[in-house]
Amino acid sequence: MKSFRIPPLTDTMLTDEILALKKNKDAIILAHYYQTSDIQDIADYVGDSLGLSQQAAKTDADIIVFAGVHFMAETAKILNPAKKVVLPDLAASCSLAEGCHPDDFERFLRLYPDHKVISYVNCSAEIKAMSDVICTSANAEKIVNSFPKTQPLIFAPDKNLGHYINQKTDRNMVLWDGACMVHEAFSIEKILMLQKEHPDAKFIAHPESEKHILSVASYIGSTTEMINYAVENPTQKFIVATEAGILHKMQQMVPDKTLIPAPANEDNHCACAECAFMKMNSLEKLYLCLKDESPEIILPEQIITRALLPLQRMLDISK
Ligand code: 13P
Ligand code: SF4
Repeated sequence: MKSFRIPPLTDTMLTDEILALKKNKDAIILAHYYQTSDIQDIADYVGDSLGLSQQAAKTDADIIVFAGVHFMAETAKILNPAKKVVLPDLAASCSLAEGCHPDDFERFLRLYPDHKVISYVNCSAEIKAMSDVICTSANAEKIVNSFPKTQPLIFAPDKNLGHYINQKTDRNMVLWDGACMVHEAFSIEKILMLQKEHPDAKFIAHPESEKHILSVASYIGSTTEMINYAVENPTQKFIVATEAGILHKMQQMVPDKTLIPAPANEDNHCACAECAFMKMNSLEKLYLCLKDESPEIILPEQIITRALLPLQRMLDISK
């Protein structure tokens, strides 16, 4: 008997299929800037964690396809418990979320009973459920400043962002010892060499980077803020210290400017910084998850109820 092999769909076919399915199923595709260019180009909205949460909170689509990592899709589910939220690859995690286990966090919180808990959105739904308020890199300063100076605070799980916000707000928040493996991979020696080679370039960095990297940056901001800075600042050349996926949208926004990805350490898997978790998603997986409506984000009801409160607080403060 003759066997037939179905040829794989080309990117154009996948794109057409995704657009048709999206319409038929009343789905919305939300993508982070760290996704591959083909995914960003097909998304209904591309943004930073704050923008993505705001979009997730206001969508009336039946299905949310989250082209990002697990904690982002969980956030969309918490904000929309009645909707179906799918993620192209359930294994797309985050070193910050992985490094903050709920049991360890619970023990840590017991050491500081009089502290309020601010959690960076890059954490699991369980950690969110244990927090008083959530923040992103775009609103962390505002969220921290919404507490009186006399209120002792815990900031988790990103120690680099926490340290940066401690400095900005003149506080001494207790920091959880977590970090983003991508932003920790930048090489200060190589960045200083690049700055020498390009004295006309401005060095811009994401606050998940370590303090010695941030100390030489002209501008520090969330991914959306970095793009806005590149658009609004008259400088023609930027050295960009965040995940390399941002360069796609940034270059579209400043087509005549030169963007140089900040180099990572020798031992990093990628010379420019790439998040292996974000890059687990592909156009094909996006198509399959929209077609099969799976893998789906499922969360226990009591976690959704408890995690919604600190998330809603964040959205209200950020208005
Ligand atoms: P923002 O897009 O909110 O700046 O976050 C960056 C990030 O590392 C997301 O995982
Ligand atoms: Fe997590 Fe860093 Fe990847 Fe963002 S870039 S998802 S913070 S590991």
